Amino acid sequence: MITLRPTIAAMNGYVPGYQPPDIASWIKLNTNENPYPPSPRVIEAIREELGSDGASLRTYPCASSQKLRETAGALYGFDPSWIIMANGSDEVLNNLIRACAAEGQEVGYVHPSYSYYSTLSEIQGAVVRTYGLTGDFRIQDFPERYSGRIFFLTTPNSPLGFAFPIDYIEHLARSCSGLLVVDEAYADFAGTNALELVKRYDNVVVTRTLSKSYALAGMRIGLAIARPEIIAALDKIRDHYNLDRLAQAACLAALQDQEYFRDACRRIIETREWFTTELRGIGYEVIPSQGNFVFAAPPDRNGKRVYDGLYTRKILVRLLSDSLLAHGLRISIGTREEMELTLAAMAEIG
Ligand SMILES: Cc1ncc(COP(=O)(O)O)c(C=O)c1O
Repeated sequence: MITLRPTIAAMNGYVPGYQPPDIASWIKLNTNENPYPPSPRVIEAIREELGSDGASLRTYPCASSQKLRETAGALYGFDPSWIIMANGSDEVLNNLIRACAAEGQEVGYVHPSYSYYSTLSEIQGAVVRTYGLTGDFRIQDFPERYSGRIFFLTTPNSPLGFAFPIDYIEHLARSCSGLLVVDEAYADFAGTNALELVKRYDNVVVTRTLSKSYALAGMRIGLAIARPEIIAALDKIRDHYNLDRLAQAACLAALQDQEYFRDACRRIIETREWFTTELRGIGYEVIPSQGNFVFAAPPDRNGKRVYDGLYTRKILVRLLSDSLLAHGLRISIGTREEMELTLAAMAEIG
C-alpha cells in the first residue's frame, strides 16, 4: 500500500480541456489555442537546432535559458535579471506558490478565473480562498488589506474575457501584503498590460505564455517578470533544465519575429470583434472580450444544449462545469472561416 500525503489523497486533480485524438477532424475552439501556425522562423530554428542527425540532443540545454531572458527582457523593457523562463506559465505559477505559500497559508484568486491556481495551492497544502465578481467586474468584498501570501489576478479574465483597468490593479497591488501575481496569458490580445506596475511595486509579478499569442502551446513556454529577488527565489526551485533545447530555439525565433506575431494577433482580434457582433445579431449575450475567446450565452441561457449541438457537428467549445457559468460557453477564436462555420451552426441550433 502506498501512503499518500493526506492533501494529495483528498484532492481532485485538474482536468484540462479535451484534446481529441482525431484533432484534425474538429473545429477546436475549447482551449484558446492559436488557429494559425507559429512563425515559419520557428520551424527553421527547430530544424537547425536538430541538425541532420539530432546530435545536439545529446547534451543538456542552457540551464538558465539566458538568451531568452535577454530577448524577452529587451522586448518588454526589463533587465534580464527581471525575467525567468518556464516550462509553460503553469510551471512558474506553481513555483510562485512553492516559493511563497507554506502549508496552511492562504492563496487567493478571483472566481471565475483559472482554477488551476487552486490545484497548485492544494498540492502545497495551502489554504485557498476565492473572491467573486461584482456586476461591473470588480472583486467582491476584497479587503482593504489582503494578507494572503499570493493573490492571482487573471487579466484578461478567462473565461469571461474582460480586463481589469490598470488603476484598479494598482489599487490591488497596494492592498496586498503578499505577492500580486498578474496572470497575463491573454494580454497580447488586449489593449493594456500591467508591466509598468512590476517596476513600481515590489510585490507585483506578471506572468506570460507563448501558448496563445505565439501559437506554441505544444512547446510549453512561459515566463515571469518580477524583481530580481523574486526571480532569484524562483531560480532556486525550478527544474534546472526546465526548457528543452527545441523549446529554447523555438522561443527565441518566435520572440524575434514580432512582425508575424503582431499580424496573427491582429487577425484574431479582428475575427473576435466580427464574431461578437454576429453572435449578438442572433440573440446571444456576449461579454466584450480582450482575449482570444469570447464568453457567450444563448437566449435560453442553456450552454449545455448549444455545446451538445456543436459537438455533434464536430465543433468543440468549452462548457465550464461551474453552475455560475452553465448559461454560456467559452469559445476560442479560430480562423475567420472556422468562426463563420461555428456561427452558422449556432444559428441553426438556435
Ligand atoms: C489564465 C491562464 N493562465 C495560464 C495558463 C497556462 O498557460 P501555459 O500553456 O503557458 O502553461 C492558461 C492556459 O490556458 C490560462 O488560461
